[in-house]
Amino acid sequence: MAYTVALTGATGFIGSVLRRHLTRAGVPLRALSRQRDGFEDGTEWVRGTLEDEDALARLVAGADAVIHCAGAVRGAAPGHFERVNVDGSLRLIEAARNGGRCERFLLLSSLAARHPHLSWYARSKFEAERRVGQAAGEIAVTVFRPTAVYGPGDREMRPIFEWLLRGWLFTPGQDGARLSLLHVEDLACAVRKWLESPQAPAATYELNDCQPDGYDWNSIAAIAAEIRGNPVRRIRVPMPLLKGLAQANLLVSRLSGRAPMLTPAKVGELTHPDWSCSNEAVRQALGWEPRIVLQNALREHWF
Ligand SMILES: NC(=O)c1ccc[n+]([C@@H]2O[C@H](COP(=O)([O-])OP(=O)(O)OC[C@H]3O[C@@H](n4cnc5c(N)ncnc54)[C@H](OP(=O)(O)O)[C@@H]3O)[C@@H](O)[C@H]2O)c1
Repeated sequence: MAYTVALTGATGFIGSVLRRHLTRAGVPLRALSRQRDGFEDGTEWVRGTLEDEDALARLVAGADAVIHCAGAVRGAAPGHFERVNVDGSLRLIEAARNGGRCERFLLLSSLAARHPHLSWYARSKFEAERRVGQAAGEIAVTVFRPTAVYGPGDREMRPIFEWLLRGWLFTPGQDGARLSLLHVEDLACAVRKWLESPQAPAATYELNDCQPDGYDWNSIAAIAAEIRGNPVRRIRVPMPLLKGLAQANLLVSRLSGRAPMLTPAKVGELTHPDWSCSNEAVRQALGWEPRIVLQNALREHWF
């Protein structure tokens, strides 16, 4: 196990679950936050941002491992994703190199990086992987590309699951589209496996919940129908309507100053026909197996 771990994104959906896992396991943790500082909840908080080189230097000072989970997942312009996801990641790996002690760096990327042309977000995650790899020097960089992550605290999948259990499934894109999912607790277990592995592999891994070939919309509807004991109605959202909603959402967000999730640039990602992936490489490298399947998560309301 590597000791003294620096974590970014610890106040977000995935990062807060990760932080709880690591502190429960007794890992000495230092976490970057835009709001918090001092010692609290078993964590040494460093107040700062990915734009603040001094804060990043304090965050990684003496850290053996860095887990980079901060990122922009919403935004109204490509420059926002680039500044946070690409420039921010680059600043962090440079701080880790200058710190002189960091041996391993985990970059939480996304399955979206597989297709950089699909969205502003996808491009920024792809570029972050590329640039961090180039700047890493002696540090072993492991890239995790999780698929859509869900679980308590998530804002994106939760409404979809709530509607699903009420008997409605709204679906974008083609009928035969395949998607995959991953519960946040399983992702946190994968990160722990990475920390505990004697040597961090300098490699890129895709992660999902082990559902072979992912899900299609009909199989998701069937799972929910079985749990409800009643049918689920599937409503196909036509492409022109989806694009219109995305355009309207972008305008509203620009007026209100809120970062939007659904934008015209995101539509390509949402309607991509194949987001299935395999855990085989990460299973072999780290011995990680996910445990939570969608059926149980929906039945037990683990989202
Ligand atoms: N959710 C998914 O389905 C999913 C799937 C694959 C990959 N990922 C990746 O996982 C990571 C975390 O995603 P999430 O869903 O947990 O997102 P989230 O809930 O929006 O959390 C993002 C985190 O990043 C921090 N952050 C953003 N900009 C920052 C900046 N400039 N300086 C410092 N901290 C900053 C946020 O801090 P504040 O709390 O201060 O805003 C927050 O802690 C991201 O890199 C994302 O690309 C997510």
